[in-house]
Amino acid sequence: MKKILSIILAITVISCNNINHTNLSSPDRKINIGFRVENGVALYSVKKNNSTIINDSEIGILFSDGTDLSRNLSIKRSSESSFNEDWYPLYGEEEKIKNHYNELKITLTNQKNEFDILFRAYDDGIAFKYVVPKQENFSNYDIIDEKTEFNLSSKDSALWIPAFSYRRYEFLYAFSSVDDISKNYFSKYVEDISYDTLGIDAAHTPLTIKMEDESFISIHEANLVDFSSMTLAPRGEGKLEVELYPWADGIKVKSNNGINSPWRTIQIANSSSDLLNSNLILNLNDDPDEDKDFSWVKPGKYMGVWWEMIGTNESTWWPSKNHGANNEKVKKYMDFASKHGFDGLLVEGWNKGWYPQWCCSGNGIPFSFTETVDDFDIKMLSEYGSKKNISLVGHHETGGQIQNYENQLEDAFKLYNKYGIKNIKTGYVNDVSKNIKRINNGDVIKEWHHGQYMINHFQKVIELAAKYKLNIITHEPIKDTGLRRKYPNYISREGAKGQEFNGFWTNGVNHATDLPFTRMLSGPMDYTPGIFQLNNFRYDSPVTKNIDKGAIVPSTIGKELALYVVYYSAMQMAADLPKHYSKHMDAFAFIKNVPVDWSERKILNSEFREYVSMARKDKNSENWYVGGITNENERELKINFSFLESGKEYTMKMYLDTQNTHWKENPMEYQITERTVSSNDNIDIYLAPGGGFALEIIAK
Ligand code: NOJ
Ligand code: CA
Repeated sequence: MKKILSIILAITVISCNNINHTNLSSPDRKINIGFRVENGVALYSVKKNNSTIINDSEIGILFSDGTDLSRNLSIKRSSESSFNEDWYPLYGEEEKIKNHYNELKITLTNQKNEFDILFRAYDDGIAFKYVVPKQENFSNYDIIDEKTEFNLSSKDSALWIPAFSYRRYEFLYAFSSVDDISKNYFSKYVEDISYDTLGIDAAHTPLTIKMEDESFISIHEANLVDFSSMTLAPRGEGKLEVELYPWADGIKVKSNNGINSPWRTIQIANSSSDLLNSNLILNLNDDPDEDKDFSWVKPGKYMGVWWEMIGTNESTWWPSKNHGANNEKVKKYMDFASKHGFDGLLVEGWNKGWYPQWCCSGNGIPFSFTETVDDFDIKMLSEYGSKKNISLVGHHETGGQIQNYENQLEDAFKLYNKYGIKNIKTGYVNDVSKNIKRINNGDVIKEWHHGQYMINHFQKVIELAAKYKLNIITHEPIKDTGLRRKYPNYISREGAKGQEFNGFWTNGVNHATDLPFTRMLSGPMDYTPGIFQLNNFRYDSPVTKNIDKGAIVPSTIGKELALYVVYYSAMQMAADLPKHYSKHMDAFAFIKNVPVDWSERKILNSEFREYVSMARKDKNSENWYVGGITNENERELKINFSFLESGKEYTMKMYLDTQNTHWKENPMEYQITERTVSSNDNIDIYLAPGGGFALEIIAK
């Protein structure tokens, strides 16, 4: 990873014995963190331009051995430093990322033990973390509670999904006062989860808050390693408190080696567009270890024997007369994918363990990751693909059976290495709360999907995959906290309701415009865009094959194209079937051409939950691509092309909804036009209800 340190300002140590307050400003001095200890309680607060973002909020940690690092505290010393570097990710949304912050390290003591709290102030937000070094007077470092608060106002609203609920992150979003975050509220207004009584009321992060003054913040975490996921629980009057997912025995985090917590992050933005423009999470992660070479990681595009199981329902994952992953079909997909310049072909249902009831309770027949089913010849198919520059994208559906997967992990990776496979999509479908079975001395213990056990599992997979030069795309993952900076092979993940739900259920028409302001703030998503057959696509069953007239993907072809720009992912799927693309090859041209690796990102316009349009510059040329999407409301967006190099002319191909397009009534109508464009142009573009547009702008 190329990295240039432009300036590291000398560390200024301010020795602060006997003080009870201190503060830190961002490099542009607009954001200010205040810190003080009052009656032994440590409090931080955050302001931007003198208006309050976070009111006095407590920090602290409680340990199972009785150690309380939240009371009786005083400041022992503190020091401040600054850091400013440009770094160059291997791939990404921007070629060059500025990492500029001021840091304040405060050592606190409760007279018996001590710990550091590290604050960083950036121009686009703040972060802090706990470091509890190994020391005497601790028998272990098992955390029973993290006391971190985010004290907002009851007038602030949150766009959230419920934590401690059965379907991980795969929910539509609720929009409510921060005080209303609860299963009851969610059940009343979004989806009935009232029977899911195991866990507490809390929201997952990234949690997006629309502040009373119409500015935005996003609370999340960065560098989540060997810890438990942070959720946010309402405590009334605008206050949120961290709740960590517990192990089955109630301990939140287990450690014998002190604590180095993930960063607790707050992105702070004046507008919804600013919210989408931040690199805070990546900046709080580390570069790859010096001895690790990731130059083999290559972004790409893939197709899949996939939608015909989950979407059109014409094939099965399991062996049957309609088994999708059969040699003849896979070869046909490879022919099509190769002809149109794709890099990979995902094939699900290639291995043993699939059967009709495989989903979704984690109780099924254990999957094999080394044995193929009879009509899938991995050797023949990988050789066939390699002649056509198509490599198989591997698939490991674990069904949430972690031990079974870990037992086979290395052999599974070796098998894929042997056949030139470079990317693996993994999956953890287990739609029951607290139902990840951990085997401990023969006993089955049930864990949450988001606790430390699973965080460590995902870490194990990514590290071993790096050893075998394999990229991982996780479905049903743990949320992205920026680990792709250190492990560029963690190339993408799902982690929200993605396109698949439009296959077997529906996301409704307004979900797609919520994602940029929520899930996408954490990192790339394998949303699987590009469905062209938006109605009359689904069969009632692979056997009877009656068209389900009610099944629709609530989108337009223009919008499906836009998603390749709006939803960033370095591995992008063209999710529909070749036979559906064949009907619209002129629109398919955009999917063929759109890059997956970028040098610049510009948010052109956005309104929270309403619409967004953005431009991205290809990393390997002077060409630009623009995508815009709207919710159920039609609108015209004015696109200002000042992002183009001035004095230069470009040929622009426009993939547009028409005045007759409508996500429900007429989703597949589009028009393609061409014109010359330059940086002086302003063009109004029409987006149909539920629609969108895509632009390909080629430098002349
Ligand atoms: C859920 C994943 O999100 C989907 O893409 C996959 O096809 C199924 N699990 C089966 O593994
Ligand atoms: Ca999923």
